[in-house]
Amino acid sequence: MIKVVSTSPFSDQKMGTAGLRRKSKVVLQPGYVENFMQSIFNVIGNLQGKVFVVGGDGRYYNDVAIQKIIKMAAANGVSRLIVGQNGFISTPAGSNIILKNHADGGFILSASHNPGGIDGDFGIKYSNHTGGQIPSFVSDAIYQETLKISEYKICDVPDVDLSQIGHQELCGMQIDVIDPVNDYVEMMEQIFDFTAIKNLFKSGFTMRFDAMNAVTGPYAVRIFEEILGASKGSVVNYVPLPDFGGLHPDPNMVYAKELVDFMFSDDAADFGAANDGDGDRNMILGKSFFVTPSDSLAILTDNFQYIPAYKNGIYGVAKSAATSTSVERVAKAHNIGYYEVPTGWKYFVNLMDSKRITFCGEESFGTGSAHIREKDGIWAVLFWLNIIAATGKSVAQITEEHWQKYGRSYYVRFDFEGVDGTIADNLMADLENRLSALVNKRYGDYIVADAGAFVYNDPVDKSSTKNGLIVRFADGSRIVYRLSGTGSSGATIRVYIERYSKEDIKREPLQMLTELFKIAMLISEIPERTGKHQADVVT
Ligand code: G1P
Ligand code: ZN
Repeated sequence: MIKVVSTSPFSDQKMGTAGLRRKSKVVLQPGYVENFMQSIFNVIGNLQGKVFVVGGDGRYYNDVAIQKIIKMAAANGVSRLIVGQNGFISTPAGSNIILKNHADGGFILSASHNPGGIDGDFGIKYSNHTGGQIPSFVSDAIYQETLKISEYKICDVPDVDLSQIGHQELCGMQIDVIDPVNDYVEMMEQIFDFTAIKNLFKSGFTMRFDAMNAVTGPYAVRIFEEILGASKGSVVNYVPLPDFGGLHPDPNMVYAKELVDFMFSDDAADFGAANDGDGDRNMILGKSFFVTPSDSLAILTDNFQYIPAYKNGIYGVAKSAATSTSVERVAKAHNIGYYEVPTGWKYFVNLMDSKRITFCGEESFGTGSAHIREKDGIWAVLFWLNIIAATGKSVAQITEEHWQKYGRSYYVRFDFEGVDGTIADNLMADLENRLSALVNKRYGDYIVADAGAFVYNDPVDKSSTKNGLIVRFADGSRIVYRLSGTGSSGATIRVYIERYSKEDIKREPLQMLTELFKIAMLISEIPERTGKHQADVVT
């Protein structure tokens, strides 16, 4: 039943910040998924005895791609696959299933927060036994393999029924279809004080969770409504749809508009949150109040003592270089380890495995801990609910008291999208060359203290990664420039701007950053080179 099919390489199967991500129509090309998967299997080598987890966020083509992967895994000699019922598993739940079952890795079919559907994006994220996405040297080897692949193996059998939980066999491989929600819920119950959160809801506390028609709907309904007792209807857009109902499932002020409008209205709930397509990103809102992800990481870290799983102490904390420095001040105050890594969750994995850190986060609405090796949207929401339940304070109160204690990092990210790839590459290369000459230069109130590429030397595997350019000013303000590695077409230039204030903590971020934005444009020549004077997305 094993068929060997001849194929020819695609030149564009290089993984980005988080796996392979392409326009759905690109992935639909005959052999596209097959070539990529066979390249992974070839690089792994002997698959006898190996166990993998497979699932996805349910987006368009999830159902077709998962059948290909199952049949190819069987044909390549994989021993066992653990598959989410109907092909669903969120990214954080997948990491947990890998770790819990001591699996050799897993495949989550998702383009994360990118829109789905035939005109949207599709993607495949590959994790190894750590439960985290593979390091760059492995993805580089896979890319090389995709460039020379000439055949793939597949079991020539009808599609597997994934609707029923239980065991089955395919071409000598065992398939276990599991409930993708159960293990995840059990893990959350072990981390947080569910009794305290139940009492919070009993006292009349209200929340709205927007699952954005994506994978977290069933997880959120089970946890927030059925177990913790949030009133029915607290979770909205909870049915995962192949095109996310036309939503752009990225939980931020721009794309989670329905939730933001509600939380800034007179009818607002006490607490609001949203997750992205595959459930690893989160946005936190209070009544007419938005918590930046950088602040959220700092606040969670500062309040670890309220959470049963962390109350005896945490190892340390890490953030991506582009994330604001809020959490650095918390790490200093608690005298715990502090690390800055390149953008992408995979860079946190070694730090967690070596017990250097417990918490980590990125400005891009990602927060998480060493309970798994991916960021975790529902975990962050439960962490906030647990702090609220323990302190009796509102989101705004908790955040404002944090600023009073530590000062505030005003922080905004500006994205310039759809830029020609060559223009973007040249812009970054030329900027990098000019940076050292900027040191000591004055721009209005700001003097450049230091400028250069961000280079990360991993303390565990000793690899070195260059990611983005940083301009630091004498007052602690920073501008970070990088190119996105998750887009499916064209280039996106991200400009992250930060300004710290110890006392002046109640101002509008954009207003506080007006001058720095102008400096950022001047230094980089973005307007002249791209024709864009304003960013396309501001978060
Ligand atoms: C973006 C975010 C990054 C995150 C990644 C995957 O990557 O900026 O923090 O880890 O999505 O969710 P980028 O497009 O910037 O490479
Ligand atoms: Zn995601």
